[in-house]
Amino acid sequence: GTGTFHLEKDRENSEMEKDEKMSRKIHIFDTTLRDGEQVPGAKLNKRQKIEIAQQLANLGVDVIEAGFPCSSPEDLQAVKAIAEQVKGPVIAGLARAVQQDIDLAWEALQGAERPRIHVFLGSSDIHLKSKLRKGRDNALAMAVEAVRYAKKYCHDVEYSTEDGSRTDFDYLCRVIEAAIDAGATVINVPDTVGYAVPEQYGELIRKLRESVPALDRVLLSVHCHNDLGLAVANSLAAIRNGADQVECTVNGVGERAGNASLEEIVMILKTRHDTYQAYTDIKTQEIYRTSRMVSRLMNIPVQPNKAIIGANAFAHSSGIHQDGILKDRSTYEIMKPEDVGIRQHKMVLTARSGRAALKHRLTEMGYELEQDKFERVYKRFLNVADRKKEITSQDLNSIVEIELTKV
Ligand code: KIV
Ligand code: ZN
Repeated sequence: GTGTFHLEKDRENSEMEKDEKMSRKIHIFDTTLRDGEQVPGAKLNKRQKIEIAQQLANLGVDVIEAGFPCSSPEDLQAVKAIAEQVKGPVIAGLARAVQQDIDLAWEALQGAERPRIHVFLGSSDIHLKSKLRKGRDNALAMAVEAVRYAKKYCHDVEYSTEDGSRTDFDYLCRVIEAAIDAGATVINVPDTVGYAVPEQYGELIRKLRESVPALDRVLLSVHCHNDLGLAVANSLAAIRNGADQVECTVNGVGERAGNASLEEIVMILKTRHDTYQAYTDIKTQEIYRTSRMVSRLMNIPVQPNKAIIGANAFAHSSGIHQDGILKDRSTYEIMKPEDVGIRQHKMVLTARSGRAALKHRLTEMGYELEQDKFERVYKRFLNVADRKKEITSQDLNSIVEIELTKV
């Protein structure tokens, strides 16, 4: 009866809690609104940025990087609004290692419950020579000065060694040590150009932990780009070797081939807890809704075969697989779609479905449409449903995206 069910659930829950106590927390630093928004054509207005930030807070991220306040007055205003309105996560703003940027970052962040100034400076010889035209010692002094300056405003200061994965190891250690001495609370070692491979990047993190004991006093963060398709793999290698925080974006959006994908990292840590012994505080049931919102507002479609949140991620189409799933879901399913917020639909949408059924399904998919937009979607839905017998979630996604992107 239900008594047994509850006992089993209780046992399951307490095992999970025990499990989690034995494992390390990984901090999720979301940079969808900063690195993600640098994608051409993905620019968001202030209202849209606040909407996404609010959803990121619902999702349970630890840090929201809300923008780069010195990049434009509009971005400063958006970061300011998020800092004032969005409660829960740390709100971070990016700044180059110069006073003017740090002043503007603070202007934007000061209203936050938990503000963080994120300062970055190139550290590889390529960056120092070609971009900054500085020697190593001068750049190191500039980093220290910037961290000290930011620290006057804000207790929480993150320092990023831009192009860290291509930086001379001994110099990297010196910069990190100096930034911690100057008061940095988080040290981030980005793979700015997506050049790293997992074995090497994991090894870099392990060696840094060994060589810079001061890292034990701060959070060690990683930030990976996907130019070789390895951003998630590199982030995981770093986690295995001692990283505390990962910087990532919803749907993996970001410059060029993008950043590490939040939903993949989170669901890998959850599904393969046996291997990583690490957990996040993400409410995974909010993943799908967040993914749809980011895709819609940034105008960046998600490929159908995208892991975790693609339209086909849980669609079993071969007869053999469907048969197996019906007998026992674990035959072909390693995660439950419900765990990422994708509902399994008992109710099939057809040309006979009314407005209420359609509205219900759209809400589940994360779409809250104004009346006129809803009517347009409904009309197109009826059109498509007349031609196709059943309307899948993927069909619905396309219908909505087409209607919403019309001017
Ligand atoms: O890729 C990168 O190095 C960055 C830094 C600003 C953290 O985005
Ligand atoms: Zn980046």
